[in-house]
Amino acid sequence: MTPLLELAGVTKRFHAGTPSEAVALRNITLTLAAGDFVTVIGSNGAGKSTLLKTIAGMIAPDAGTISFDGRDITHLPVYRRAATIGRIAQDPGDSTCAAMTIEENLAMAERRGMPRGLRRAVTQTARARFVAALAPIGLGLESRLGIRVVALSGGQRQALALLMATLAGARLLLLDEHLAALDPRTADIVMDLTARVVAERALTTLMVTHKMQDAIRFGNRLIMMHAGAIILDVRDDAKAALTVEALVTRFHEVGSEMTEDRVLLTT
Ligand SMILES: Nc1ncnc2c1ncn2[C@@H]1O[C@H](COP(=O)(O)OP(=O)(O)OP(=O)(O)O)[C@@H](O)[C@H]1O
Ligand SMILES: [Mg+2]
Repeated sequence: MTPLLELAGVTKRFHAGTPSEAVALRNITLTLAAGDFVTVIGSNGAGKSTLLKTIAGMIAPDAGTISFDGRDITHLPVYRRAATIGRIAQDPGDSTCAAMTIEENLAMAERRGMPRGLRRAVTQTARARFVAALAPIGLGLESRLGIRVVALSGGQRQALALLMATLAGARLLLLDEHLAALDPRTADIVMDLTARVVAERALTTLMVTHKMQDAIRFGNRLIMMHAGAIILDVRDDAKAALTVEALVTRFHEVGSEMTEDRVLLTT
Protein backbone atom coordinates (compact mmCIF):
# COMPACT_ATOMS: atom_id res chain seq x y z
CA MET A 1 0.00 0.00 0.00
CA THR A 2 1.26 3.48 -0.83
CA PRO A 3 2.07 5.36 2.36
CA LEU A 4 0.09 8.57 2.81
CA LEU A 5 3.17 10.58 3.72
CA GLU A 6 6.78 9.85 3.02
CA LEU A 7 9.77 12.00 3.97
CA ALA A 8 13.14 10.95 2.61
CA GLY A 9 16.39 12.58 3.70
CA VAL A 10 14.71 15.85 4.66
CA THR A 11 17.19 18.40 5.98
CA LYS A 12 16.67 22.02 7.00
CA ARG A 13 19.28 24.47 8.26
CA PHE A 14 18.59 28.01 9.35
CA HIS A 15 21.26 30.70 8.91
CA ALA A 16 23.48 28.17 7.12
CA GLY A 17 27.15 29.07 7.09
CA THR A 18 26.85 31.70 9.82
CA PRO A 19 27.77 31.43 13.51
CA SER A 20 24.08 31.15 14.35
CA GLU A 21 23.52 28.15 12.08
CA ALA A 22 20.85 25.81 13.43
CA VAL A 23 20.20 22.39 11.98
CA ALA A 24 16.47 22.05 12.55
CA LEU A 25 15.98 18.82 10.56
CA ARG A 26 18.78 16.32 10.08
CA ASN A 27 18.21 13.83 7.29
CA ILE A 28 14.68 12.92 8.41
CA THR A 29 13.17 9.76 7.00
CA LEU A 30 9.60 9.12 8.07
CA THR A 31 6.75 7.13 6.57
CA LEU A 32 3.14 7.45 7.71
CA ALA A 33 0.53 4.91 6.69
CA ALA A 34 -3.01 6.16 6.12
CA GLY A 35 -4.70 6.28 9.52
CA ASP A 36 -1.52 6.60 11.58
CA PHE A 37 -2.01 8.89 14.59
CA VAL A 38 1.50 9.87 15.64
CA THR A 39 2.27 11.89 18.74
CA VAL A 40 5.50 13.89 18.63
CA ILE A 41 7.57 14.87 21.65
CA GLY A 42 10.98 16.45 22.09
CA SER A 43 12.71 19.23 23.97
CA ASN A 44 12.67 22.88 22.91
CA GLY A 45 14.39 23.40 19.59
CA ALA A 46 14.28 19.69 18.70
CA GLY A 47 12.77 20.48 15.29
CA LYS A 48 9.13 19.49 15.88
CA SER A 49 7.57 22.69 14.53
CA THR A 50 10.00 22.79 11.62
CA LEU A 51 9.01 19.22 10.73
CA LEU A 52 5.30 20.12 10.63
CA LYS A 53 5.88 23.39 8.76
CA THR A 54 7.97 21.60 6.18
CA ILE A 55 5.21 19.05 5.61
CA ALA A 56 2.66 21.88 5.36
CA GLY A 57 4.84 23.64 2.79
CA MET A 58 5.59 26.72 4.89
CA ILE A 59 9.29 25.89 5.00
CA ALA A 60 11.21 24.51 2.01
CA PRO A 61 13.71 21.79 2.91
CA ASP A 62 17.35 22.24 1.85
CA ALA A 63 17.53 18.60 0.84
CA GLY A 64 15.28 15.58 0.65
CA THR A 65 11.80 14.88 -0.70
CA ILE A 66 8.27 14.81 0.64
CA SER A 67 5.60 12.66 -0.99
CA PHE A 68 1.90 12.73 -0.24
CA ASP A 69 -0.26 9.87 -1.47
CA GLY A 70 2.48 8.81 -3.87
CA ARG A 71 2.98 12.27 -5.33
CA ASP A 72 6.09 14.42 -4.86
CA ILE A 73 4.92 17.60 -3.11
CA THR A 74 8.36 18.87 -2.06
CA HIS A 75 7.95 22.06 -4.10
CA LEU A 76 4.17 22.42 -3.98
CA PRO A 77 3.14 25.80 -2.49
CA VAL A 78 1.18 25.92 0.78
CA TYR A 79 -2.12 26.93 -0.80
CA ARG A 80 -2.07 23.89 -3.07
CA ARG A 81 -1.70 21.59 -0.04
CA ALA A 82 -4.07 23.44 2.28
CA ALA A 83 -7.22 21.51 1.39
CA THR A 84 -5.70 18.10 2.08
CA ILE A 85 -3.12 19.00 4.74
CA GLY A 86 -4.58 20.90 7.69
CA ARG A 87 -2.28 22.54 10.24
CA ILE A 88 -3.35 23.90 13.61
CA ALA A 89 -0.77 25.59 15.82
CA GLN A 90 -0.68 26.97 19.33
CA ASP A 91 -2.01 30.43 18.50
CA PRO A 92 -5.75 30.27 17.76
CA GLY A 93 -5.29 33.33 15.53
CA ASP A 94 -3.33 31.28 13.00
CA SER A 95 -6.06 28.91 11.91
CA THR A 96 -9.24 31.00 11.92
CA CYS A 97 -10.09 34.41 10.50
CA ALA A 98 -10.89 36.78 13.38
CA ALA A 99 -12.73 39.41 11.35
CA MET A 100 -15.14 36.91 9.82
CA THR A 101 -18.12 35.22 11.49
CA ILE A 102 -18.20 31.56 12.52
CA GLU A 103 -20.36 30.63 9.53
CA GLU A 104 -18.17 32.59 7.11
CA ASN A 105 -15.09 30.77 8.41
CA LEU A 106 -16.81 27.41 8.00
CA ALA A 107 -18.09 28.28 4.52
CA MET A 108 -14.61 29.37 3.50
CA ALA A 109 -13.18 26.08 4.73
CA GLU A 110 -15.84 24.07 2.94
CA ARG A 111 -15.04 25.76 -0.36
CA ARG A 112 -11.28 25.55 -0.06
CA GLY A 113 -9.83 24.36 -3.31
CA MET A 114 -12.90 25.39 -5.32
CA PRO A 115 -12.86 28.15 -7.95
CA ARG A 116 -13.33 31.65 -6.52
CA GLY A 117 -16.64 32.17 -8.31
CA LEU A 118 -18.28 29.61 -6.06
CA ARG A 119 -17.38 31.46 -2.86
CA ARG A 120 -20.69 33.18 -2.26
CA ALA A 121 -22.89 33.89 0.73
CA VAL A 122 -23.72 31.21 3.29
CA THR A 123 -26.82 29.25 2.25
CA GLN A 124 -29.51 27.92 4.60
CA THR A 125 -28.53 24.34 3.87
CA ALA A 126 -24.92 25.13 4.70
CA ARG A 127 -26.09 26.76 7.93
CA ALA A 128 -27.97 23.60 8.90
CA ARG A 129 -24.84 21.56 8.20
CA PHE A 130 -22.75 23.86 10.39
CA VAL A 131 -25.22 23.66 13.28
CA ALA A 132 -25.15 19.86 13.06
CA ALA A 133 -21.36 19.85 13.07
CA LEU A 134 -20.98 22.35 15.91
CA ALA A 135 -23.63 21.11 18.33
CA PRO A 136 -21.87 17.88 19.44
CA ILE A 137 -18.74 19.82 20.47
CA GLY A 138 -20.58 21.19 23.47
CA LEU A 139 -19.12 24.70 23.38
CA GLY A 140 -22.36 26.43 22.35
CA LEU A 141 -21.02 27.58 19.00
CA GLU A 142 -24.07 26.34 17.07
CA SER A 143 -26.21 29.20 18.39
CA ARG A 144 -23.60 31.85 17.54
CA LEU A 145 -23.03 31.30 13.82
CA GLY A 146 -23.28 35.00 13.01
CA ILE A 147 -20.80 36.35 15.54
CA ARG A 148 -17.26 37.28 14.65
CA VAL A 149 -14.58 34.81 15.60
CA VAL A 150 -12.60 37.53 17.39
CA ALA A 151 -15.23 37.28 20.16
CA LEU A 152 -14.55 33.58 20.80
CA SER A 153 -12.27 32.07 23.43
CA GLY A 154 -9.05 30.35 22.41
CA GLY A 155 -10.59 26.92 22.95
CA GLN A 156 -13.63 27.76 20.86
CA ARG A 157 -11.36 28.97 18.08
CA GLN A 158 -9.22 25.81 18.18
CA ALA A 159 -12.37 23.67 18.05
CA LEU A 160 -13.57 25.71 15.09
CA ALA A 161 -10.17 25.29 13.41
CA LEU A 162 -10.49 21.51 13.77
CA LEU A 163 -13.89 21.53 12.12
CA MET A 164 -12.60 23.79 9.37
CA ALA A 165 -9.78 21.40 8.59
CA THR A 166 -12.19 18.50 8.23
CA LEU A 167 -14.73 20.49 6.20
CA ALA A 168 -11.94 21.45 3.81
CA GLY A 169 -11.34 17.72 3.26
CA ALA A 170 -8.07 17.34 5.14
CA ARG A 171 -6.58 13.86 5.03
CA LEU A 172 -3.52 14.76 7.04
CA LEU A 173 -3.82 16.78 10.24
CA LEU A 174 -0.76 18.56 11.65
CA LEU A 175 -1.28 19.67 15.24
CA ASP A 176 1.53 21.76 16.72
CA GLU A 177 0.85 22.08 20.46
CA HIS A 178 -2.68 23.13 19.58
CA LEU A 179 -3.78 22.82 23.23
CA ALA A 180 -0.83 24.63 24.79
CA ALA A 181 -2.50 28.04 25.05
CA LEU A 182 -5.73 26.69 26.59
CA ASP A 183 -6.74 26.30 30.23
CA PRO A 184 -6.74 22.66 31.41
CA ARG A 185 -10.50 22.15 31.21
CA THR A 186 -10.78 23.62 27.71
CA ALA A 187 -7.69 21.70 26.63
CA ASP A 188 -9.45 18.48 27.66
CA ILE A 189 -12.57 19.37 25.66
CA VAL A 190 -10.56 20.23 22.56
CA MET A 191 -8.42 17.08 22.96
CA ASP A 192 -11.57 14.94 23.16
CA LEU A 193 -12.86 16.64 20.04
CA THR A 194 -9.50 16.05 18.34
CA ALA A 195 -9.57 12.33 19.13
CA ARG A 196 -13.18 12.07 17.93
CA VAL A 197 -12.59 13.95 14.67
CA VAL A 198 -9.45 11.92 13.93
CA ALA A 199 -11.28 8.64 14.56
CA GLU A 200 -14.48 9.55 12.68
CA ARG A 201 -12.64 10.78 9.60
CA ALA A 202 -9.80 8.25 9.85
CA LEU A 203 -7.40 11.18 9.58
CA THR A 204 -3.68 10.60 9.46
CA THR A 205 -2.32 12.81 12.22
CA LEU A 206 0.93 14.21 13.59
CA MET A 207 0.32 15.79 17.00
CA VAL A 208 3.12 17.66 18.75
CA THR A 209 2.54 17.87 22.47
CA HIS A 210 4.65 18.73 25.49
CA LYS A 211 2.36 16.67 27.70
CA MET A 212 3.91 13.24 27.83
CA GLN A 213 0.72 11.75 29.27
CA ASP A 214 -1.18 12.84 26.15
CA ALA A 215 1.61 11.58 23.89
CA ILE A 216 1.30 8.15 25.49
CA ARG A 217 -2.47 8.08 25.75
CA PHE A 218 -3.42 9.16 22.24
CA GLY A 219 -2.50 7.69 18.89
CA ASN A 220 -0.98 4.41 17.73
CA ARG A 221 2.57 5.65 17.35
CA LEU A 222 4.98 8.00 19.15
CA ILE A 223 8.12 9.68 17.91
CA MET A 224 10.68 11.57 19.95
CA MET A 225 12.86 14.21 18.31
CA HIS A 226 16.20 15.55 19.47
CA ALA A 227 18.55 17.96 17.71
CA GLY A 228 16.72 17.64 14.40
CA ALA A 229 16.57 13.85 14.36
CA ILE A 230 13.97 11.21 15.22
CA ILE A 231 15.53 9.27 18.08
CA LEU A 232 12.59 7.09 19.03
CA ASP A 233 9.73 5.66 16.97
CA VAL A 234 7.42 3.22 18.73
CA ARG A 235 3.99 1.95 17.84
CA ASP A 236 1.08 -0.22 18.87
CA ASP A 237 1.83 -2.52 21.82
CA ALA A 238 5.25 -1.03 22.46
CA LYS A 239 3.68 2.42 22.56
CA ALA A 240 0.89 1.30 24.84
CA ALA A 241 3.52 -0.02 27.26
CA LEU A 242 5.40 3.32 27.45
CA THR A 243 5.56 5.22 30.70
CA VAL A 244 6.42 8.84 31.42
CA GLU A 245 9.44 7.58 33.38
CA ALA A 246 10.72 5.61 30.39
CA LEU A 247 10.43 8.68 28.18
CA VAL A 248 12.19 10.90 30.72
CA THR A 249 15.01 8.34 30.90
CA ARG A 250 15.30 8.41 27.13
CA PHE A 251 15.50 12.21 27.21
CA HIS A 252 18.34 11.98 29.71
CA GLU A 253 20.18 9.45 27.59
CA VAL A 254 20.44 11.89 24.71
CA GLY A 255 21.50 14.68 27.05
CA SER A 256 18.36 16.72 26.66
CA GLU A 257 18.34 19.66 29.02
CA MET A 258 15.56 18.43 31.16
CA THR A 259 15.87 20.66 34.19
CA GLU A 260 14.35 23.73 32.62
CA ASP A 261 12.40 21.88 30.04
CA ARG A 262 8.66 22.24 29.78
CA VAL A 263 8.49 18.55 28.95
CA LEU A 264 9.41 17.62 32.48
CA LEU A 265 7.44 20.33 34.15
CA THR A 266 4.18 19.33 32.59
CA THR A 267 4.15 15.58 33.00
N1 LIG B 1 12.50 30.78 11.32
C1 LIG B 1 13.61 30.37 11.94
N2 LIG B 1 14.77 31.06 11.80
C2 LIG B 1 15.90 30.64 12.39
N3 LIG B 1 15.99 29.54 13.16
C3 LIG B 1 14.87 28.82 13.34
C4 LIG B 1 13.63 29.20 12.74
N4 LIG B 1 12.68 28.28 13.10
C5 LIG B 1 13.31 27.40 13.89
N5 LIG B 1 14.61 27.70 14.03
C6 LIG B 1 15.61 26.93 14.79
O1 LIG B 1 15.48 25.58 14.39
C7 LIG B 1 15.56 24.70 15.51
C8 LIG B 1 14.28 23.90 15.64
O2 LIG B 1 13.21 24.76 15.97
P1 LIG B 1 11.70 24.26 16.10
O3 LIG B 1 10.86 25.47 16.27
O4 LIG B 1 11.38 23.36 14.99
O5 LIG B 1 11.77 23.44 17.47
P2 LIG B 1 10.58 22.79 18.32
O6 LIG B 1 10.94 21.37 18.53
O7 LIG B 1 9.28 23.08 17.70
O8 LIG B 1 10.75 23.55 19.72
P3 LIG B 1 9.63 24.06 20.77
O9 LIG B 1 9.35 22.90 21.69
O10 LIG B 1 10.30 25.18 21.49
O11 LIG B 1 8.43 24.51 20.02
C9 LIG B 1 15.86 25.59 16.72
O12 LIG B 1 17.25 25.64 16.88
C10 LIG B 1 15.34 26.94 16.27
O13 LIG B 1 16.04 27.98 16.92
MG1 LIG C 1 7.58 24.11 18.30
